[in-house]
Amino acid sequence: MSRPSILVARPVFPEILALLRAHFEVDHHDGVDALPPAELVARLQGKVGALTTGSERIDAALLAACPGLKIVANMAVGFNNFDVPAMTAHGVLATNTPDVLTETTADFGFALLMATARRVCESEHYLRAGQWKQWRYDLFAGAEVHGSTLGILGMGRIGQGVAKRGAHGFGMKVIYHNRSRLSPELEAECRASYVSKAELLAQADHLVLVLPYSAESHHAIGAAEIAQMKPTATLINIARGGIVDDAALALALRERRIAAAGLDVFESEPRVHPDLLTVPNVVLTPHIASATVKTRLAMARLAADNLIGFLTRGQALTPINP
Ligand code: DGY
Repeated sequence: MSRPSILVARPVFPEILALLRAHFEVDHHDGVDALPPAELVARLQGKVGALTTGSERIDAALLAACPGLKIVANMAVGFNNFDVPAMTAHGVLATNTPDVLTETTADFGFALLMATARRVCESEHYLRAGQWKQWRYDLFAGAEVHGSTLGILGMGRIGQGVAKRGAHGFGMKVIYHNRSRLSPELEAECRASYVSKAELLAQADHLVLVLPYSAESHHAIGAAEIAQMKPTATLINIARGGIVDDAALALALRERRIAAAGLDVFESEPRVHPDLLTVPNVVLTPHIASATVKTRLAMARLAADNLIGFLTRGQALTPINP
């Protein structure tokens, strides 16, 4: 009997590729760039499954052109690259990689918060450029982290991880806004208080975005929201690019309407809004919040296990639309 064929649409760990090759005929796109949509459709012909990352858009047009497809396993917890209703309508299972990246991503949220508040990157560039002449009382004086107010927009697993780090590790007052309020037990565990979005914007010294991207959260932070923040505040985005209006943010940073921002995700990544590249008070990283070797391996393994489980036994571990 011929083995099922799958597409691995992105470079992946050799051991994961070997695992998949033990079960399937594997077509592997090992290129630096993501496959353009037409090429993705061409490579999916005759495939029953695919391993993707956030870079591959799985929408109604693609699904109509790939009738043999049965499962797409995203190596990411976010799945805004999937049109889930269209996948359900075409009988295609969608899976993601929740839980395995929660703590690592929360760690990075804090790394970005610390780097942004304490001006780590700006001061490093200054030193490397040979500009450091003397100690000065105000040299790269930044914002206090311990004891400040940490605001979290989006209080899922990663948001809760960020809250615990802030409350337990840095003695921060934690406030959050979310579509639904946490249970009293979870609020106590995170030492976090629920507030309205307006209160969150007005009170946070450091505002961390950890909400999923959707039509509803598109530009949840734009010029109007930034105007409600403290001029001394920092904004950290480890969620998805489209949640922030990058042009409005770049202008606000240039005009010092907020102190600084730390961004791991961008509206049109891997392209970064040119205005963000020229303001000094922003820390920019290339979507690496979950990037430790251990966590990325766990994500790849879970995506592979979803493909293997579903295509060999009819059961995926972390289905989105079971
Ligand atoms: C995720 O898992 O959603 C991360 O953003 C990596 O893509």
